[in-house]
Amino acid sequence: MSYVPQEYWFRHGKTYKEEFQYNKKFELQEKILIEYLKNLSVSSFSTVFELGCGFGRITKLLLSNFSNITEYVAIDLSPHQIENAKEFVKPTIETRQQNLNINFMVSSIQSFQMQKKYDLVVASEVLMHVLPSEIEDVVHKLVSMSNEHVVNIDWYEEPPATKAAPHNFIHQYEKIYVNLSQVNNVYRIPIMKKGSWLKSVDAKQYLFHALIKKTQ
Ligand SMILES: C[S@@+](CC[C@H](N)C(=O)[O-])C[C@H]1O[C@@H](n2cnc3c(N)ncnc32)[C@H](O)[C@@H]1O
Repeated sequence: MSYVPQEYWFRHGKTYKEEFQYNKKFELQEKILIEYLKNLSVSSFSTVFELGCGFGRITKLLLSNFSNITEYVAIDLSPHQIENAKEFVKPTIETRQQNLNINFMVSSIQSFQMQKKYDLVVASEVLMHVLPSEIEDVVHKLVSMSNEHVVNIDWYEEPPATKAAPHNFIHQYEKIYVNLSQVNNVYRIPIMKKGSWLKSVDAKQYLFHALIKKTQ
């Protein structure tokens, strides 16, 4: 069956949360993301744009770990995922003392009307589902929406896997980022824990971080 992103995610968004199984790979992915963001020399980001928030797993994670966030915009093309995200994140928002402006919107990134720039633009396991014919434009848009950091976590392998499900793609994120004039540096961090054979976890994922040039 051919992959039509809008149709696929509209359908899967209805059952995504119930079918989601939290496991060691997600645990490690979240730990590495939080540690990485906390170690950024300018970990003072206060505005965040999240692409493909799903049921709000990363939204909740960031809001509970970074009390400095004052504005958060999360979009997803699935209306069901957005409804689930609002519910999932609600208790976290309620416990926050300071002002927080949070907006959940049903939209694809392709049709999103960009109005401002954010300190952090983040997308976890979303870009790997963008069609190869659209990935460069989507990454370009994300970079244009950031004034400091763009972080994506996605499946990546070298050499690229020969077999992949129709909705999964290995994109050359580093090459795409470095070709953009707004990008200063790109970093690639493996989502991997080395341990004994039983304890090691390799999610076959990487965290990609594009550092955006400061505008004068
Ligand atoms: C695998 S889920 C990841 C959800 C969440 N980021 C997480 O890590 O738990 C991918 C999500 O991206 C959304 N998505 C895929 N392509 C998108 C696009 N072009 N624009 C907006 N959302 C998209 C899907 O609807 C889905 O909710």
